[in-house]
Amino acid sequence: MKFITLSNGVKMPILGYGTFTMSNDETERCVTEAIQVGYRLIDTAQAYRNEEGVGNAIVKCGVSREELFITTKIWVENAGYEKAKRSLEESLKKLQTEYIDLVLIHQAFNDYYGTWKALEEAYKSGKVRAIGVSNFYPDRFMDLVTFSEINPMINQLETHVFQQHKNDKKFLEKYGTKLEAWAPFARGSHGIFENEVLMQIAKQHNKTIGQVALRFLIQNGIIAIPKSVHKNRMEENLNIFDFSLSNENIKKIEELDLGENVFMDHENAEDIERFFKMFKIGNK
Ligand SMILES: NC(=O)c1ccc[n+]([C@@H]2O[C@H](COP(=O)([O-])OP(=O)(O)OC[C@H]3O[C@@H](n4cnc5c(N)ncnc54)[C@H](OP(=O)(O)O)[C@@H]3O)[C@@H](O)[C@H]2O)c1
Repeated sequence: MKFITLSNGVKMPILGYGTFTMSNDETERCVTEAIQVGYRLIDTAQAYRNEEGVGNAIVKCGVSREELFITTKIWVENAGYEKAKRSLEESLKKLQTEYIDLVLIHQAFNDYYGTWKALEEAYKSGKVRAIGVSNFYPDRFMDLVTFSEINPMINQLETHVFQQHKNDKKFLEKYGTKLEAWAPFARGSHGIFENEVLMQIAKQHNKTIGQVALRFLIQNGIIAIPKSVHKNRMEENLNIFDFSLSNENIKKIEELDLGENVFMDHENAEDIERFFKMFKIGNK
């Protein structure tokens, strides 16, 4: 496994395992298998309602806690200093751990300033080893870094071959923030697993399209957290450290960039409205 060093010196695995849309039971089974095949970074969130499953897997897995790197995220409804603090205590309990390696603000909505204060405090007290954000696009990101003490160590954004965030990545680097890719397979959209360009490159290396898509990210210094409920795919997705992409092939993949999100455009009011409705967020 390769590691990436965050701005505070903490080392984070560059490839991890995502757990979105999995029940607690399925999460426990899948995270156990993921750790068995070699994953050490596990990504969960309060909103996924499966932190207990992650907690059960990590206490039973036989791998020491120090070897694991656990990420969770504070949900929009838990935003604000007091609520975020309480919710972090809940997450610690559910995850059955004394500290969390990385805590992110899940979305830049509601009182994210209060949440950030709670995270800065938790970081200073040692309950959390690194803090960051997710889905913070340039305006919200700049707003937070300009008026806060600690810069986010991570920004987790929808990132894949069709949404590469080349400029955003450079901009984040200016503030010591690493880009982490959620939905590194674009959740299968845009026909990623049949893409001709990726298929040709995969054949050259005797690899799969999924492996090429992940290799492209990590070779660009982007942390990726693919999700699969199948053990063989977990293994496949992890097996990307024994080949590298040539500059020529990197250029070909760069040409696939459409520069837009598949799941939600944070600059589109209707998308945001849909998101709030879907998660039943807000007072209205
Ligand atoms: N911060 C955020 O707002 C946010 C939002 C969404 C997700 N995330 C995080 O990012 C993680 C990954 O994103 P995601 O789960 O949305 O999507 P993803 O990892 O891009 O794609 C997952 C899909 O790809 C399939 N798959 C996995 N490996 C494959 C392979 N080798 N070949 C073919 N198909 C494969 C999976 O099916 P099977 O399971 O059937 O194998 C699943 O349908 C999440 O689990 C979550 O931890 C964060």
